[in-house]
Amino acid sequence: MCGIVGYVGAEQAAPILLDGLSRLEYRGYDSAGVAIYSQGKVRVAKAKGRLQVLSDMIQGGRAIQGTIGIGHTRWATHGAPSDVNSHPHVSHSGNIAVVHNGIIENYAELKSFLQSKGVPFVSETDSEVVAQLVEYFYQGDLLEAVGRVLHRIQGAYALGILCCDQPDQLIAVRKDSPLILGLAEGANFLASDVTAILRHTRDVIYMEDGEVAVLTSQGVQCYNSLLQPITKEVSQVDWEVDAAEKGGYEHFMFKEIMEQPQALRRAVFPRIQDGEVYLEDFALTDEDIRGLSKVYVVACGSSYHVGMVGKYHLERLLRKPVEVALASEFRYMEPIVDEHTLVIVISQSGETLDTMAALREAKRLGAKVLAIVNVVGSSIAREADEVLYTWAGPEIAVATTKAYTTQLAVLNLLGLYMARRLGTVADEEYTQVLEQMLLLPAQMEEVLEKQSQIQYLASQYFNHESIFFMGRNVDYTLGLEGSLKLKEISYIHSEAYAAGELKHGTISLIEDGTLVVAVGTYGPLFDKALSNVVEVKSRGASVLALTTQSQGERMAEVANDLVTIPDTHPLLLPSLGVVPLQLFAYYVALHRGCDIDKPRNLAKSVTVE
Ligand code: M6R
Repeated sequence: MCGIVGYVGAEQAAPILLDGLSRLEYRGYDSAGVAIYSQGKVRVAKAKGRLQVLSDMIQGGRAIQGTIGIGHTRWATHGAPSDVNSHPHVSHSGNIAVVHNGIIENYAELKSFLQSKGVPFVSETDSEVVAQLVEYFYQGDLLEAVGRVLHRIQGAYALGILCCDQPDQLIAVRKDSPLILGLAEGANFLASDVTAILRHTRDVIYMEDGEVAVLTSQGVQCYNSLLQPITKEVSQVDWEVDAAEKGGYEHFMFKEIMEQPQALRRAVFPRIQDGEVYLEDFALTDEDIRGLSKVYVVACGSSYHVGMVGKYHLERLLRKPVEVALASEFRYMEPIVDEHTLVIVISQSGETLDTMAALREAKRLGAKVLAIVNVVGSSIAREADEVLYTWAGPEIAVATTKAYTTQLAVLNLLGLYMARRLGTVADEEYTQVLEQMLLLPAQMEEVLEKQSQIQYLASQYFNHESIFFMGRNVDYTLGLEGSLKLKEISYIHSEAYAAGELKHGTISLIEDGTLVVAVGTYGPLFDKALSNVVEVKSRGASVLALTTQSQGERMAEVANDLVTIPDTHPLLLPSLGVVPLQLFAYYVALHRGCDIDKPRNLAKSVTVE
């Protein structure tokens, strides 16, 4: 989705903005632009296409002199990707420049109003209306004009605003779209994502909905929605600068796959102390846990797939009903949720709009909401009643990998913690799972060592135009995740089925040479997994199977190709099983020459409905 960077300080703004925007490229975008106050004017450069096009246009920033400016990467919603629809948008006099993330829902009505007053529009975007409206209300006090605009616009927005008449200040506004402020010596920043400014500062202010900030080179003043001055806490970001860089790897996705053992150590080790699960600042009391009648897990995409694993694991551990819902469906399905329901929302970014909307709906219905989130200080983390961070570090590739495995680990820890309080897990099993969890990172390293084997398999299969995944129980959920990974980065059509469902229709699609990835790690259903492999092979399929080392020999007898993972407790199998599927998707996409970190049409965090 769109990205915003703003800078005010003593250095040349354009190169800083271009650098910041380059760190937001991973979010997905189709055009980019900057507006800089330069020699008495707001100068704008913007272009459809990659950031490099913009950078070339302004000679890496050298072509526009000035020490204050705003920049944007756009992911088109209203109006096709084009030079004119790119941000920043400028008011008709050229006095006001605006960058906007989100959607102005009532823009059509506001546009008609302004047009009736003779204001000319040049773009098809909803965002241009903000620049024109600020100018319409502007009578010498930018903050006051912005305040009046905020009373008129509806929807979601993070805004960066620059005005020719007040060339020493930037205005930042946030509602339902992330925006942070970065504080440095003699310079200040605004950004939609901390990675954009991490090279300059770790001191940040997380803006809340409805807040406005005025940034100058000397300081930042925040205001509430009534434009009364407020004091905000300054937080320190503990991510390493190089965590958001490729560090010698060809792709962020591969780097993040390889980082998983370390990410798991960070997510798990501090939470196992003296043989018990320890959850920091966890306010759900034993009585709260015993009072729960059910659990709902709500999320999107891969986070939803973690939720699906959670359904199997939590039901097994808690002996309470667990429902799992797509966040985009949850709020429209009249969910049966009340004060005895625990709603667990899962989100890497903590900014996914559908998940945020589901969280709010759950709270409105009286449920307690616990969020499993990676990005510290993100909107979902701040609005939930409880947060468990995954501590995976910045995840840049659009295709999530280390966020998935750490979400799963945290969900397992939560399940064990609650089960211990409910008395629904035997002491012996509890201890065994925790012991195995401590071994998981090293076992994952073993799986990662199979990268050459998986690369070879990808070289054999990358030409397939349609690939099926099948599995039962948690292996089905792994199939869904493997299939999503493959689709999003390699553009191969792929579907995942609960293996028992095949004969109810889908098996008709199997013909000579169809590739079926059979996931059969789960011991209790292994024999059934074998039968399904035989079933599709006898209809001509080639089968690439995934199972555990102890089951490998039997699987090898029926499958064409086999990848094994180490044996572990069943609750931990998906954490290992997902890794070969990630690597397979990665290498297939590599063989097909795809843009792995920035797949077409996709954005890292989806902040529109
Ligand atoms: O940031 P979130 O976890 O809320 O994002 C949810 C999905 O958009 C995300 O998992 C998406 O499906 C990934 N691209 C999958 O790799």
